[in-house]
Amino acid sequence: RSDQIRQGRLAGERSGDLEHFLASMETDRWIAEADLLVDMAHLLGLVRQDIINEAPARALMAALLDLHDHGIPEEAFDEKFEDVHAGKEACLIDRVGEDFGGRLHMGRSRNDEVATCIRIRLKEEMIALVRSLADLRRTLLDVAAAHTETVMPGFTHLQHAQPTTLAHYLLAYEQAFSRDTARLREAYARVDVSPLGSAAFASTGFPLDRAYTAALLGFSRPAPNSMDAVAARDFAIEVLADTTAMMTTASRLCEELVLWSTAFVGFVQLEDAYCSSSSIMPQKKNPDVAEIMRAKAGTVAGALTAAVTIVKGLPMSYNRDLQELTPHLRRGVEGAQQSIPLLAGMIGTATFNTERMAAEAGRGFSTATELADVLVREYGLPFRTAHRIVGRAVRHGSLDLATVEGAAREAAGISVVERGLNQERIDAVLDPAHAVAVRSIVGGPAPAAVAVQIDEQRELLARD
Ligand code: ARG
Repeated sequence: RSDQIRQGRLAGERSGDLEHFLASMETDRWIAEADLLVDMAHLLGLVRQDIINEAPARALMAALLDLHDHGIPEEAFDEKFEDVHAGKEACLIDRVGEDFGGRLHMGRSRNDEVATCIRIRLKEEMIALVRSLADLRRTLLDVAAAHTETVMPGFTHLQHAQPTTLAHYLLAYEQAFSRDTARLREAYARVDVSPLGSAAFASTGFPLDRAYTAALLGFSRPAPNSMDAVAARDFAIEVLADTTAMMTTASRLCEELVLWSTAFVGFVQLEDAYCSSSSIMPQKKNPDVAEIMRAKAGTVAGALTAAVTIVKGLPMSYNRDLQELTPHLRRGVEGAQQSIPLLAGMIGTATFNTERMAAEAGRGFSTATELADVLVREYGLPFRTAHRIVGRAVRHGSLDLATVEGAAREAAGISVVERGLNQERIDAVLDPAHAVAVRSIVGGPAPAAVAVQIDEQRELLARD
């Protein structure tokens, strides 16, 4: 059977190259299942409104159920049909004859059909993504709970900055992933509207009950404007933006794992399954999963850029350009959906080297801020003066009492020894565990403050 849609208005044959250029068959496999559901809902809608007689309705439903049970036959994906919607219609007409099969497309266009399919498919993907995010968040919380006392260095500018704990570090990532969850949940409400019944853009003179077909397909309501319903792809852009944000965070965590697993840093040992070796260097254990995931974040961001760029110049309503967007949407959500469970696995199976972390926690004068704070709290100095004194002592290479005293005289013209500072106090203050322990306010790394964060996030997770 040839492409029936062309036969009225258009003449002649087309080359395979031309057909291939126009076809969306590869991506249509992604929405083909949804398309059968859309067909069934539309058919039931036609029945309900008495737009179709019982005989063709029965024949069509039987054929659709058969396609659903046994799969859409390969010939429906022949590129001469351009898309699965036309290919499947040809296949239905083959099976039940044009007198019956030619009635399914009453009051419908491929424009509302494809928009409905994409939304159905996207809703499934979003639910799966929120589930994967929940697993990742649970893993981060579990590992964090085991490491509330694991002191490690925290960094700004990738320079040793102040001590923190592994729990506090991982919870920072969990916070971001919980926001990604919230973003997807909010976006879901906007994806969850049915374009079906909008037809080409102007709706239809057939008395379709759009709320009925929307409900059959599990949508919360019909899209309120039929032109917007076929033309809008901001729902896709929104979800791609959400997956881009999520993958950007995933990529940063992957970057930590790559860095932390180097011999220089040595904070983590990744499970062998998440690593590859070298074809020439027999000793190699490379963090390839983390690296691919870091790159995948770029692919997903590229999908968002492509989607925005495809849509931005389009006037109302449907334009064929929109077909070119769907593969990017698929690439974006699939990139995230492949990555997030692997990230959970990688974190959950990693071995953290707590001794290395502890050894690094005090490096680079990482507790200097605490010493300055103590000069303020216990010895009455203005913070800026204390900051200058401690900074000058570090410039001289040490934070022992003699150097700090010299720095105080030099940089502020005062004596901290006269004010009562002694070596014992300095030693206590410079202990990384002490610096963590006193940072006990809301959001801080002290074990008790972190325990509150874990509890709050577990509660949020239970509600998500
Ligand atoms: N394959 C098309 C797409 O993805 C389906 C809609 C085709 N509509 C049209 N007027 N040619 O957008």
